[in-house]
Amino acid sequence: MSSRSNVEALRTADIEIVAKIHATCFFDAWGPSMIRQVLDMPGTYGLVARRQNYSSIVGFALARVAADECELLSLGVASEYRANGTGAQLLATAMARAIAERARWFFLEVAEDNKAALRLYEAHGMEKVGYRLNYYENADGSKTNALTMRCALPDEG
Ligand SMILES: CC(C)(COP(=O)(O)OP(=O)(O)OC[C@H]1O[C@@H](n2cnc3c(N)ncnc32)[C@H](O)[C@@H]1OP(=O)(O)O)[C@@H](O)C(=O)NCCC(=O)NCCS
Repeated sequence: MSSRSNVEALRTADIEIVAKIHATCFFDAWGPSMIRQVLDMPGTYGLVARRQNYSSIVGFALARVAADECELLSLGVASEYRANGTGAQLLATAMARAIAERARWFFLEVAEDNKAALRLYEAHGMEKVGYRLNYYENADGSKTNALTMRCALPDEG
């Protein structure tokens, strides 16, 4: 579905819809209270992507800066709006915010079979630096290994 999105700070009023999108993206869904808890952690920020000309939220990113590192905690785009650049917009904005907060490293965990996410992260300069055995649980009870990816962020100067 075409139309670019605007990426903005996540507001309290957005939490319910972000939880709904999260549930469509991940087996281990974060409900509204979990998202509130995550946002309450020091250094955490949330972003939402809204369709231009519409108020509807189509994606989100949650990240946390601690010392000189920023971890991407979660990133998701509603399935009908994928492959349209929204994930890239959210990731780029999350990285820009990390740079503004003087983080020097950006890192995340991703399922090793998540081709779309791996391509997205590699396209943004992230490299595989670690491996976590059986890190994610799937709906059928099976487990999937995770990769840790990381990239250096430029010094804002
Ligand atoms: C990963 C995810 C956030 C990407 O969002 P998106 O809006 O589709 O991403 P974009 O449209 O910005 O695509 C960015 C790049 O990702 C890759 N990509 C996107 N969809 C893809 C697909 N279906 N297959 C392979 N690569 C894909 C491409 O490299 C693309 O770059 P390109 O347009 O230059 O080819 C989205 O697929 C999603 O929400 N997935 C479920 C949740 C998830 O896996 N989150 C990440 C967990 S770590």
